[in-house]
Order: sequence, then structure tokens, then C-alpha cells
Amino acid sequence: MNTIQIKDKKFSLSIPESEILEAVRKVGEEINRDLAHKNPLFICVLNGAFMFAGDLMKTVSVPCEITFIKLSSYDGLYTSGVVKEIIGLNESVVGRTVVVVEDIVDTGITMERILSSLRAKGASEIRVATFLQKPDALQRDIQVDYVAMKIPNDFIVGYGLDYDGYGRNLKDIYTVVE
Ligand code: IMP
Ligand code: MG
Repeated sequence: MNTIQIKDKKFSLSIPESEILEAVRKVGEEINRDLAHKNPLFICVLNGAFMFAGDLMKTVSVPCEITFIKLSSYDGLYTSGVVKEIIGLNESVVGRTVVVVEDIVDTGITMERILSSLRAKGASEIRVATFLQKPDALQRDIQVDYVAMKIPNDFIVGYGLDYDGYGRNLKDIYTVVE
């Protein structure tokens, strides 16, 4: 199905599952090369990154741990700019290499907040792995180390990303149709 309806919006297929999985596998292989002896702690940012993290971690083969935090900043189609922490971090990151696993870096406001909190908690090395990046929407000076795919500044759903809570279960990415 190439066009779908979620609530009041129509979306059309823009990135098929096969391309997604190939791009995610490449990120996993880069991480294996870079972090082989670093015993990294992966921090998956819920809800959106659950599917990316699941597939990514199937390729990551270095000794590592994975944990989860939960944040929320979106309200429908637009970022509210206010990032709420709903589930915090339980593990110590002192002296540790951490990899933040995100669904998308859009304005970068969420990531900036996560990075400053991890720095304050004493992480020695912080890397960012994001499934998607919208380079044209970036408003913060943050370093993103691993990007599976770069996309235009349009609203998308699928592969973990939602419109008002729906669409996270789609295995492909769909873009909103104006
Ligand atoms: P930022 O703080 O503006 O970078 O937004 C980051 C968060 O907004 C992401 O983790 C997503 O949950 C959400 N987000 C950004 N763009 C989209 C989109 O196109 N569709 C669905 N969620 C999005
Ligand atoms: Mg998110």
C-alpha cells in the first residue's frame, strides 16, 4: 500500500523497509569498528527509537549494555520545544563511553538536552547514533556521529516514529502529503 491515512492526514510511502535495514546495518558495522574495546552503554531514547535500536543491536557485536530513557517533546506535527523526562537513567555513566540511540535529530533541542545531562552525570565519551536526521531543521550546534539516513524537512511516520501516537508500527517510512 503506497498511501495511508492516519487520523486527519494522508501519508505516502517514501523509504521502503529494505533501504532502512541496509542503512541501519551500515551504522552497526561502523559502531563495531569504532567501539570494539570501549564497553559502550547504549541509551535508547523511547518511544521513537525502539525499532531502530532493535535492528541496530542485531548488528552490534561488541561487548555492550543497553538501557532506555523516555522523553517527550512533540505535540502532533510540531515540536513543542519543551522536553519532558518521563523515565530517567538508572545506570551510572561515570567514566563510561555512551551511545545515545535516537529515532531522529530534528531541531536538535532534545539531543542537546540529553547530551548536557550525560555530560553532567560524568560520561567520559558520548556518541550519538540517529536513525534519521533532518539537516535543514537543525537549530543547535551538536555533533551527530552516526546517521543511518538524511531526509528533507517534512513530517514522516513509521519505523518507530509517530503522528499523535499512531504509525510507530509501520515497517516503512511514510511522508505526509500536503
Ligand atoms: P528535536 O528536539 O526537534 O530534534 O525533535 C526530536 C524528536 O521529535 C524526535 O525524537 C522525534 O520523536 C520527534 N520528531 C521529529 N521529527 C519528527 C517527524 O517527522 N515525525 C515524527 N516525530 C518527529
Ligand atoms: Mg524521539
